[in-house]
Amino acid sequence: MTDTILRTDRLSKNFGGLIAANNVSLNFERGQVHAIIGPNGAGKTTLINLLSGDLLPSDGTILFNGKNITSLPPDKISQLGIGRSYQKTNIFATFSCYENCWVAAQSRLNTSMRFFRPAKKLKKVQDRAEMTLDLCGLSSRRDVLASAMSYGEQRQLEIGMMLATEPELLLLDEPLAGMGSEESLQVIELLRRLSRDHTLILIEHDMDAVFSIAEQLTVMVNGRVLETGTVEQIRNSQAVQEVYLGVEEEAT
Ligand SMILES: Nc1ncnc2c1ncn2[C@@H]1O[C@H](COP(=O)(O)OP(=O)(O)OP(=O)(O)O)[C@@H](O)[C@H]1O
Ligand SMILES: [Mg+2]
Repeated sequence: MTDTILRTDRLSKNFGGLIAANNVSLNFERGQVHAIIGPNGAGKTTLINLLSGDLLPSDGTILFNGKNITSLPPDKISQLGIGRSYQKTNIFATFSCYENCWVAAQSRLNTSMRFFRPAKKLKKVQDRAEMTLDLCGLSSRRDVLASAMSYGEQRQLEIGMMLATEPELLLLDEPLAGMGSEESLQVIELLRRLSRDHTLILIEHDMDAVFSIAEQLTVMVNGRVLETGTVEQIRNSQAVQEVYLGVEEEAT
């Protein structure tokens, strides 16, 4: 039995004459890791931006848990339970690891706890920040300034900050970009841990990582969905091998 968490129907985005997302109709199943791959400029980040509300679609619809969220602003979409990470890191360099988690927890709880007393609110934010640190595996780096942490740790922290809003669905745009192999392994481990109780939509160029953690795979080319299916189906797809994996092999 399938249980769809997110569904797009003919979702499109034009930038002037350029069609960055072209009639994208996809189903994302609850609890799965669904990776989106494709060459540079294929429209992967555009798709994530449409899902998170950072871009308004030119056409088509987005349903999240059956609710039409098309054209809702990013803060509303975040409140409904969709969290996203950005390709560029988004953390405060002069704050400690804990303080960054605190800020993320605070920004969410501020709106949901309007009517609580300040002391209670503060305790709740502190608890949430500690939980976030623990979840992203950075408890031992609690008081280190973000600027003094390694790039990989900063990316881990960024994923942690996204968790402070307790999202059900995580949108991750190249979480391994720019990392060494040791750092990548740490983040892959974190993603694997998160996948136990979250749905993940993951854009990633590292094919080993994709094949090791994704269950579903969508290949995009020129704004369109070339193919979507299980990892096994995509591996065996003639069209994908010709258009995408072939290109990848030539490039390395
Ligand atoms: N804000 C924008 N204005 C105009 N064109 C844009 C904008 N954002 C993206 N594009 C164009 O849309 C196309 C898809 O870009 P997108 O960033 O979604 O690709 P991508 O698959 O994420 O690529 P990459 O793997 O390089 O990150 C590209 O041709 C890009 O130049
Ligand atoms: Mg991109």
